Amino acid sequence: MIQHPTTSSAGGLAAPPPAGTVRLTINGQLHTLEIAPWTTLLDALREYLHLTGTKKGCDHGQCGACTVLVEGKRINSCLTLAVMHEGEEITTIEGLGTQENLHPLQQAFVDHDAFQCGYCTPGQICSAQGLINEGKAHTEAEIRELMSGNLCRCGAYVGILNAVKEVVDKGIKNYELKIKN
Ligand code: FES
Ligand code: FES
Repeated sequence: MIQHPTTSSAGGLAAPPPAGTVRLTINGQLHTLEIAPWTTLLDALREYLHLTGTKKGCDHGQCGACTVLVEGKRINSCLTLAVMHEGEEITTIEGLGTQENLHPLQQAFVDHDAFQCGYCTPGQICSAQGLINEGKAHTEAEIRELMSGNLCRCGAYVGILNAVKEVVDKGIKNYELKIKN
């Protein structure tokens, strides 16, 4: 007999999924969550902590909308479990700047009209900060290549490239972030 996953063999409702305690340090603040072990970092951020700046696009590692920084390195938060990041420094777009004090990349995105709908923008900016931390991209071609995991359905690529290039050229590195090797 085919059984619905939420229905027990006795026909009643199945027990809720087991939750475990996960401690995450996000934007310098420690959060304790009771979540199922298979909760992605993206869902932990958006659904449990209401940090909705990080966007869910494909949920399959293909668009980059969910990019955040872990120990200064960019990752797709839809492809990793929250529980895997206990004890690590997680930075989301909410931790990069404030309305009164924009992060240099945020200012550059405004200056270069580097967005239209803005859905991809938090991921683009977190990814660009990760790229700067890596220190590998210096030319336009290198920036294009190393930002290619971040899609923009509005096609704002020229502005995005110009914004990132400006910050790379100014040499603004490791803005309030440290990379652990
Ligand atoms: S939502 Fe994570 S890569 Fe698209
Ligand atoms: S600005 Fe709309 S998807 Fe990039």
